[in-house]
Amino acid sequence: MGKMDKLLFRIRLLLSTIVLLVFSALFGLVALHIGLIQHKPNNLVWKPKSITTDLEGEEKASLIKLGYDVITRTPELIGPLAEKEEMQFAGNNLTCQSCHLEAGTKPGSGSFVGVYNRFPQYRGREDKMGTLEERIDGCMERSMNGQKLPHNTLEMKGMIAYMKWLSEDVPEEKLAEYKGYVAIDLPEVKADLSKGETIFQKYCIVCHGADGQGVRPNEGALYEFPPLWGNDSYNHGAGMHRVITAAEFIKSNMPFQQATYDKPVLTDEEAYHVAAYINSFDRPQKANPEADFPKKELKPVSTPYGPWRDNFSAEQHKYGPFQPIMEYYKLTFGIEKKK
Ligand code: HEC
Ligand code: HEC
Repeated sequence: MGKMDKLLFRIRLLLSTIVLLVFSALFGLVALHIGLIQHKPNNLVWKPKSITTDLEGEEKASLIKLGYDVITRTPELIGPLAEKEEMQFAGNNLTCQSCHLEAGTKPGSGSFVGVYNRFPQYRGREDKMGTLEERIDGCMERSMNGQKLPHNTLEMKGMIAYMKWLSEDVPEEKLAEYKGYVAIDLPEVKADLSKGETIFQKYCIVCHGADGQGVRPNEGALYEFPPLWGNDSYNHGAGMHRVITAAEFIKSNMPFQQATYDKPVLTDEEAYHVAAYINSFDRPQKANPEADFPKKELKPVSTPYGPWRDNFSAEQHKYGPFQPIMEYYKLTFGIEKKK
């Protein structure tokens, strides 16, 4: 090799080294950038645990899975479709998931994410401290129109284990989003059943049917679309039978798989009228409803059955307007009510 060649070779070596350095620096930046991009949304779009992907290696995996099954196939495990008659505690063929959507992981539908850590808590309906098991019994006796599920059954323990598991490691800033329902701006008018009917026809009958009885392949199967009133629905003591509560649920969750709490389909007013409409039909009656809320002044204003600690009509307690009743409790008892 001549001197010239050696020089050229060195220059080339130098150049390619520089190019290599520049490229690896760029690559590093890009990699860092991608990492950053991925890191941020991962924090923002935190998701609840999923039974299909997150159960592996869990100590109580089979109990948690049983709880999930009870919540998503309630009638088959603890209801009218259970093989053993002594396991038929639920009285209708709804599932817990009919209202606590996506097995209790959808925000704005009374999610179970975080719920475990909020119990025991004071319950006005019984005027005492209540456990999570007792709260589930509340839904068993009302939403499921059945009986209490004994607390020592594997099915109850499974539901508790599932809720505990969902409530672990939830980022502090996510807790509010998953808790309960999102409030609506309550219209200051009496709910209008004929408006409700129009909204029902436009948005709801495709799935729940014109007669509100839902759809299932046969009497031995789970509902594809659950009934909204009638014999196989929640009873008159259920939270969903209160127009304000039902309106909150409907606004954030129906039409199904379209509405979310942050992207609702209906307006507050539409949700209010249609909630009144579905609750204007006959449904099973809860036994002994007068025992609810031993301190009657704590009863939600929209509880449609008496006795109440006021002289407003049963009609107004059911369909509103609710503001005058709320105002009365504020002035008379100093109690601020939102429902
Ligand atoms: C017809 C609808 C419906 C069905 C079915 C139903 N629930 Fe509920 N559930 C409600 C409503 C309404 C509330 C009160 C939500 C609120 O006001 O934030 C509630 C509240 C709860 C809570 C307390 C949530 C909290 O954040 O404090 C638990 C736990 C619960 N239900 C469990 C169950 C279980 C378990 C089942 C099935 C055995 C079930 N529910 C079936 C409607 C229903
Ligand atoms: C695309 C189908 C679909 C549409 C449209 C729809 N729903 Fe639902 N709805 C469902 C399903 C499915 C569930 C139960 C969810 C589950 O089991 O996962 C449900 C549950 C409910 C529940 C609680 C369970 C019960 O049976 O009481 C209410 C109340 C309800 N829907 C009301 C409405 C109202 C009011 C509308 C119209 C504004 C509506 N839905 C529109 C499919 C639908």
